[in-house]
Amino acid sequence: MPTALITGGTSGIGRATAELLHARGYQVVVTGQNPDSIAKAKAELPGDVLVARADARRPADTDSLLRTVSERFGSLDLLFLNAGVFRPAPVADVTEEAFDEQVDINFKGQYFTLQKVLPLIADGGAVVMTVGIGVRRGSPGATLGAATRGALLAMLPSLALELAPRRIRVNAVSPGAVETPLFDKLGVPEAGRNAMRANIPFERFGSSQEVAEVVAFLASDAAGYVTGQDVVVAGGYGLGA
Ligand SMILES: NC(=O)c1ccc[n+]([C@@H]2O[C@H](COP(=O)([O-])OP(=O)(O)OC[C@H]3O[C@@H](n4cnc5c(N)ncnc54)[C@H](OP(=O)(O)O)[C@@H]3O)[C@@H](O)[C@H]2O)c1
Repeated sequence: MPTALITGGTSGIGRATAELLHARGYQVVVTGQNPDSIAKAKAELPGDVLVARADARRPADTDSLLRTVSERFGSLDLLFLNAGVFRPAPVADVTEEAFDEQVDINFKGQYFTLQKVLPLIADGGAVVMTVGIGVRRGSPGATLGAATRGALLAMLPSLALELAPRRIRVNAVSPGAVETPLFDKLGVPEAGRNAMRANIPFERFGSSQEVAEVVAFLASDAAGYVTGQDVVVAGGYGLGA
């Protein structure tokens, strides 16, 4: 049975990916940090999905998780680095604390999770990272979100080359606007969502499941010759001038 570790798998895109991979026969481990979302995920995900608290800002959390994963599953076939936050603010309002927090979660946390998990990934396995269309298309207030996600995108080709000798494929998925609890956390009202829809050629948000399908493809043997790529899942957003 293949095994997947999904960071930020308690909600939204990560959770939909956990459900899809589980339905396709994977053993699945998901992480989150908020006790309420962890409890909800434990109650609602299939009983054999391992739901673990691992705060991306605390490397020691990953150490103890990996001991459990190693004992229970031996190795991993997929690492999906998906945990992240989006806290828009104009440059003038960003404090040093807010800067450090977003860098710690969205970039540093993903980087060191990757470093720690790498020895557990089986040769021929896959790494997928969640990036985002905001790395290529601007919107006011998104400087930190874009920079922290862009850091992951910038390391993609080098990481793919580093891991090619082990035939570990490294790819990214870049969602556009995808309907997840993220927008509720941001407090985006319906009028704001309608304004976003008006800029999307498909005139709707994507679903978590549509992103999960791409992650599942990138993890599968069907993508056996695909590495170092970023797949945009955005309903055509950003294609125009
Ligand atoms: N939805 C979109 O339109 C969109 C577009 C582009 C990129 N993205 C990116 O896609 C990823 C998933 O987003 P989503 O829309 O599915 O949002 P979501 O529903 O808010 O899910 C975010 C996940 O990340 C976890 N997380 C947050 N901070 C964490 C930390 N410090 N340590 C460990 N886990 C943490 C959350 O767990 P807790 O609940 O426990 O905090 C949750 O499981 C994010 O990285 C987001 O930036 C989303």
